Amino acid sequence: MSQVEEVTRFYMKETAREQAFTNIWEKEINAVFADVANYYDRVNRVASLGLISWFRRSFISTMDVKPGQKVLDVCAGTNAVGIALLEKEPGLDLNAVDRSADMQRVGQENAKAKGLTIKSTITDVHKLPYPDNHFDVVTLQFASRHLRLIEVIKEIKRVLKPGGHFYHSDMLRPGNKIVEKAYFAYLTACVSFVAWMFKSNQYAMGCKKYFVDALRLFYSPEEMTQLLYDQGFTDVTSKSLLGGVVCSHKAVSKS
Ligand SMILES: C[S@@+](CC[C@H](N)C(=O)[O-])C[C@H]1O[C@@H](n2cnc3c(N)ncnc32)[C@H](O)[C@@H]1O
Repeated sequence: MSQVEEVTRFYMKETAREQAFTNIWEKEINAVFADVANYYDRVNRVASLGLISWFRRSFISTMDVKPGQKVLDVCAGTNAVGIALLEKEPGLDLNAVDRSADMQRVGQENAKAKGLTIKSTITDVHKLPYPDNHFDVVTLQFASRHLRLIEVIKEIKRVLKPGGHFYHSDMLRPGNKIVEKAYFAYLTACVSFVAWMFKSNQYAMGCKKYFVDALRLFYSPEEMTQLLYDQGFTDVTSKSLLGGVVCSHKAVSKS
């Protein structure tokens, strides 16, 4: 496929995602995370059958960070990524951005409990409130499915210094059809069980189907690699876990 065809295909996919999910992204997701904030970390442990720490360790292990670097964690939630990064390199200038004040309130409590400082900004990440060429490193974990991804990646590219690193990690759409079928069946059951177990509110109950549908329409590890190249990144590498169910990407912003 030529690069023009590839880019067109991704824009069509983004349009399809937007048409399917705009209502949920704009009206419901924030209410879901407000409800989930206090028990988000426990939900992740249950839903991942305890594998979440492995997913996170694996993601952090792909990161090359140095003292004094400015880091931005996009859709930081409860600051799991920021905290792990500061534990790896305490000399970082760590910034978090997320639309959910509730998730960030828990994130601030989590950081303070460990004596760590993370600067917090509450806003929608489709427009990042930072100057061009500002950060050495940008991270984004477990949130891309809720975003107009190409728009956010353009913003990430804008705020990254030339030669800066972007680290992305998420549940992706496994390329292998057998893995995909088993995975979606597990997820469908799991989302219902977790919603019941944690007595989720009406918004989270209403979004049960969305959490699986958002993955069906999402990118595979190979597509994510291509999308990053198309958006002006270079030296893109990836690391898949469980047959591409979770995948981390590392990309360098072109000088
Ligand atoms: C599943 S949580 C992931 C949190 C964290 N990155 C982690 O790895 O645990 C998704 C986060 O994305 C945030 N989010 C979703 N859409 C957003 C948007 N348009 N702007 C800013 N934050 C958003 C939610 O508020 C939530 O905190």
